[in-house]
Amino acid sequence: MIFKNKKILVIIGGGIAAYKSLDLIRLLKKSNNEVKSILTKSGREFVTPLSLTTLTKNKTFEDIFDKNAEAEIDHISLSRWADIIIIMPTTANFMTKLCLGKAEDLATTVILASNKDILLVPAMNVRMWLHKATQKNVKTLQDYGYLFIGPEKGEMACGEYGDGKMSSPRQIFSYLHDYFKNKNLIKKKNLKALVTSGPTREYLDPVRYLSNESSGKQGNEIAQALSRLGIQTTLITGPTNLTSKKEIKIKKIVSAEEMLEEVKKCLPVDIAVCAAAVSDFKPIKKINNKIKRNLVSIELKKNKDILEYLGKNNKHRPKIVIGFAAETENLTKNAVLKLRQKNCDLIIANDISKKNSGFNSDYNKVKIIDNFGKINVIKKNKKSFIANKIAEIIIDRLLVDDRSFN
Ligand code: CTP
Repeated sequence: MIFKNKKILVIIGGGIAAYKSLDLIRLLKKSNNEVKSILTKSGREFVTPLSLTTLTKNKTFEDIFDKNAEAEIDHISLSRWADIIIIMPTTANFMTKLCLGKAEDLATTVILASNKDILLVPAMNVRMWLHKATQKNVKTLQDYGYLFIGPEKGEMACGEYGDGKMSSPRQIFSYLHDYFKNKNLIKKKNLKALVTSGPTREYLDPVRYLSNESSGKQGNEIAQALSRLGIQTTLITGPTNLTSKKEIKIKKIVSAEEMLEEVKKCLPVDIAVCAAAVSDFKPIKKINNKIKRNLVSIELKKNKDILEYLGKNNKHRPKIVIGFAAETENLTKNAVLKLRQKNCDLIIANDISKKNSGFNSDYNKVKIIDNFGKINVIKKNKKSFIANKIAEIIIDRLLVDDRSFN
């Protein structure tokens, strides 16, 4: 079924493709959605307020300093009103403004004040799109949580050929169709997820412990990405300096044993992602007083494997169980071994031998391997980007049956 009764705010940027926003608005209205529009100053060079008002059957908003408009609907309520905000075309210049967090006119102010998903529809010359500055902006905006559709390959208005052509109104419409369908399914299914994250500490005495370098950033980003999709998410985390948004339920633990206890309390869930760098060993006995220097050895025993506990859980196995494999050698081979050993659906192979990748960095470079042997290589990118990719794969796998029956 095609989506309807959605509230869609279309912001028209300044580019030759701006006229296509009229086609999208027509499609949205035809399928019984409500549309409001903001026309930027440069967008006005390509589209008139009259055409927008005629098609949307709503006033076209134009200027932040329009006293009448502000009394009627201020920029905060305009952003709260929408189910989704679309910026088309999104020019290179507009992307830079979003990266800087500018609030210089109605469009940028609404966006900065928004708590909704924002879909960017880039359109520009191929060289502008491929320029390092633009590509860096794309990464930053993805990191900020902006959604993207396109650009497509094709001939541009300037006569050059390549990446930069704006996605067509039909493509955007079909993107929105999938977007609302996923949102509805997630809501209907009441999906729950647990994510383990960060290091664990295994105390030897009151002041010393076994631990590792994990910053908890990747797990934290995954929890954020799942929560953004509307999934009820619990983050079970070892000691880190990170904070999370309030929609995520946080359980702070110290040792692997405590992490396992919290995981058990959290079950049943639909999705489990074990991103924690759990200490493999703990001392057989914690010594109550500070260990003196004459001690020469400490006896250790293995911690229970939390990922394996989830993967092989007969009663409450989550529908999708995901592990990480932090390796310094034979990345794929060792990761696949772990996937099988711990009965996971997916494993994220993480090369921790390289500098500036993996532990304690904002960036990572991973291979996502599934239980059918399919490998998805993700080049070095922000951990937030990788988290969104993982969340996308999870949703694809969980909703595949529902989609095919619709
Ligand atoms: N893991 C876990 N509980 C443990 C140990 C590991 O849940 N007690 C999970 C991690 O969260 C990760 C996966 O298992 O998802 C792999 O962890 P990793 O440290 O890469 O490997 P290990 O299984 O500990 O094996 P090894 O240290 O021998 O590589």
